[in-house]
Amino acid sequence: MSRPRLTAEQLRSHRWFGVDTMRSFGHKSRAKQMGFDAEDYSGKPVIGIVNTWSDINPCHTHFRERAEDVKRGVHQAGGFPLELPAMSLSEPFQKPTTMLYRNMLAMETEELLRSYPVDGCVLMGGCDKTTPGLIMGATSVDVPSIFLPAGPMLKGRWKGATLGSGSDTWKYWAQRRAGTLGEQEWGEIEDGIARSPGHCMTMGTASTMTAAAEALGLTLTGGSSVPAAFSHHPQLAVATGRRIVDLVWEDVTPRQVLTREAFENAIAVVMAMGGSTNAVIHLVAMAGRAEVDLPLEVFDDLSRAVPALANIRPSGEYLMEDFYDAGGLRGLMAELGELLHRDAITVNGRTLGENLEGAEIHDTDVIRRRDAPLTEQGGLAVLRGSLAPDGCVIKTSAASPDLLQHRGRAIVFDSYDDMEARIDAEDLDVDENSVLILRGAGPLGGPGMPEWGMLPIPKKLLRRGVSDMVRVSDARMSGTSYGTCVLHVAPESVAGGPLALVRDGDVVELDVPGRRLDLHVDAEELERRRAGWTRPEPVFSRGYGKLFAQHITQADKGCDFDFLEGTGGAPEPAIH
Ligand code: FES
Ligand code: MG
Repeated sequence: MSRPRLTAEQLRSHRWFGVDTMRSFGHKSRAKQMGFDAEDYSGKPVIGIVNTWSDINPCHTHFRERAEDVKRGVHQAGGFPLELPAMSLSEPFQKPTTMLYRNMLAMETEELLRSYPVDGCVLMGGCDKTTPGLIMGATSVDVPSIFLPAGPMLKGRWKGATLGSGSDTWKYWAQRRAGTLGEQEWGEIEDGIARSPGHCMTMGTASTMTAAAEALGLTLTGGSSVPAAFSHHPQLAVATGRRIVDLVWEDVTPRQVLTREAFENAIAVVMAMGGSTNAVIHLVAMAGRAEVDLPLEVFDDLSRAVPALANIRPSGEYLMEDFYDAGGLRGLMAELGELLHRDAITVNGRTLGENLEGAEIHDTDVIRRRDAPLTEQGGLAVLRGSLAPDGCVIKTSAASPDLLQHRGRAIVFDSYDDMEARIDAEDLDVDENSVLILRGAGPLGGPGMPEWGMLPIPKKLLRRGVSDMVRVSDARMSGTSYGTCVLHVAPESVAGGPLALVRDGDVVELDVPGRRLDLHVDAEELERRRAGWTRPEPVFSRGYGKLFAQHITQADKGCDFDFLEGTGGAPEPAIH
């Protein structure tokens, strides 16, 4: 694709460095203070490298060196790189949940790019919410941007068995709770499960969203599958640095890439990957920034049309390192064929279809052919009904087939603490047909919609060999979790959704084939209950948490802040 190129005078940074004013004197003298001179920046695109490295983010431990690799690429192509650190959202450590801070990272990214002399940027993320947060911010500024994914960590091992992030933690923790796994083994698993830099190597939110970013066209082709510890990863970083410079000259911005077709490509890829349910929330939020209409039903439609091909845990068997060796996302997307919009443009300047030419699958057990898929349909369903008027989702690929149509009596927990205090009580009136309900765990309730949706199976049922039950909540669930868990119920209970009115013993009906979730309580009774309901007090009385509670949208709208939706652009800075 040949595009008209900008002139040096058309660069945003020209306003800072290219003019002869007193302020520009300040910019140039202060650049000299940092050890740069005109040779470094004159007439060159300034590339902001938005780096979410932090000492407390294990998934981004390699990002200090990778930022240097990106800079090398920017220099090679005649740009001027400047690293701009941004808040790191570290999934394992940040409480109550990184989801509380995704919008904060998005705001920080947006304002960094808008307020500094940035002509284009490389967004460095990968750990769960960093990917959507960075892309949301860059989309709202709409300066040329490439996303550089952290890459998955290498496989975990324990006593000859392969260990996957999250999935195996849940699995062995259940064994430990049941008393069948000892302390020593638990310690060995701690040693073996995370052994290299990189994000979770199962099909969690990280692998899901980095694949989605590539399918959107925002990452160099094939990039999202490259393991963090492989030499191919710094090579990807250098190539990204080289390419962003040309992307600036070509003036290709996120809004040109992020069309409805691009989002449909991303959703199709999420389905084919057996991706995390979190993708629904993040993609809706990202689409909101790009001003693309993306109702929940698009996910359901594409889930019916697209088969699951990636045999990756927790839905499948393998891990991201195997996926890379088997041909990676390019192999998988090539196999999707006409299910993708192949003329969508991508940041390397070629179309998605052009990028997939010559892509191969080297192991058809890891990346299945469409005639032998993992499942005929993608793994996600969008449900509505009297218990979720604005929708909810279930990861069907991680659920038990015999529970997909189920009626049971509700057992209601008002909060995570309430659940934790009572779930294992011997006198809890529960059996395997009960429907476990957790409320107060949504965007407002959590707050931040924590990943509490995979409620534990009560110990007394675990002992009887029960391994799955229908669970319903306004929470999210980690992509590495599994079970028949209905998530993202909207409106959430704290916002006054019907979930707030459910009582122990009510009959709840899940009908996944019919795409329904219903509460069988008559309307008059529900009205009586509503009259006696009071909205809980917000958790935060000040600060960011208060801002969050005032502006967060519900799950079906992507949990963005209402005032951040859309694009503000990067207006010419007023330089006085
Ligand atoms: Fe960072 Fe899972 S903890 S991606
Ligand atoms: Mg996660």
